[in-house]
Amino acid sequence: MTATISILGRGRAGRALAEAWGGRAALLAHTAQPEGLVLLAVPDHAVADCAARFPGRCVHLAGSLHLPGVPCAHPLTSFDGQARDWSGTPLAITGAVPDDLRRAFGDLGFVPFDLPGELKPLYHAAAVLTSGHAATLWLGAQALLRAQGVALPGRGLLPLAEATLRNIAERGPAGRTGPFPRGDAATIARDAAALPEPWREIFLKLGGALD
Ligand SMILES: NC(=O)c1ccc[n+]([C@@H]2O[C@H](COP(=O)([O-])OP(=O)(O)OC[C@H]3O[C@@H](n4cnc5c(N)ncnc54)[C@H](OP(=O)(O)O)[C@@H]3O)[C@@H](O)[C@H]2O)c1
Repeated sequence: MTATISILGRGRAGRALAEAWGGRAALLAHTAQPEGLVLLAVPDHAVADCAARFPGRCVHLAGSLHLPGVPCAHPLTSFDGQARDWSGTPLAITGAVPDDLRRAFGDLGFVPFDLPGELKPLYHAAAVLTSGHAATLWLGAQALLRAQGVALPGRGLLPLAEATLRNIAERGPAGRTGPFPRGDAATIARDAAALPEPWREIFLKLGGALD
């Protein structure tokens, strides 16, 4: 099959999409100068310079960045360089993304929606809260326990995280559990006192963030 999409940048996003699209896509170094439709899978700081080499025929993947005249398709996922099941994963479309590329993302399970350029930083900040910050909380919690010699058996923190996500996906805010939604001030104070900074401040601020 002849490649119809040239992906520039062999990082996590580029490799994952190229593997999923197979013969429909060619995966190239960011210095390549292919013909036809180009998908820029390069770091955000490099998007503007790369886009200038493909006027009117490139699309970028950066969720926070809005470049007037350069369309964007942002997959709301965390890529690891491999093809995954992306069924039901939102794809934020800003600008005139060609129909062929929309269809190619749709074939992988992505679900497109239109996102105005001026809302991209807010949208991306929400994504960072959900993904990068959730990862920081998870890894930080593990490190706090490990520092005191507590090694969780079985699947560790994973069942708690899975149950929490399931509950809020099904019930929204009513699915929250723990001392903050219960208003249990004594437990909150005891737990907070056990934490070193900056975790104590994060614990108290996050706990009250929805109040
Ligand atoms: N990772 C994610 O989960 C994710 C999710 C949604 C959207 N995105 C977006 O996808 C884009 C790529 O992210 P990524 O995570 O795949 O990045 P990455 O893993 O850091 O890889 C980017 C690739 O760009 C090339 N590159 C490196 N330095 C460069 C430079 N100075 N100028 C131009 N190209 C350079 C390299 O490929 P070559 O060596 O082949 O040139 C590198 O492997 C970003 O816009 C990001 O916001 C990422």
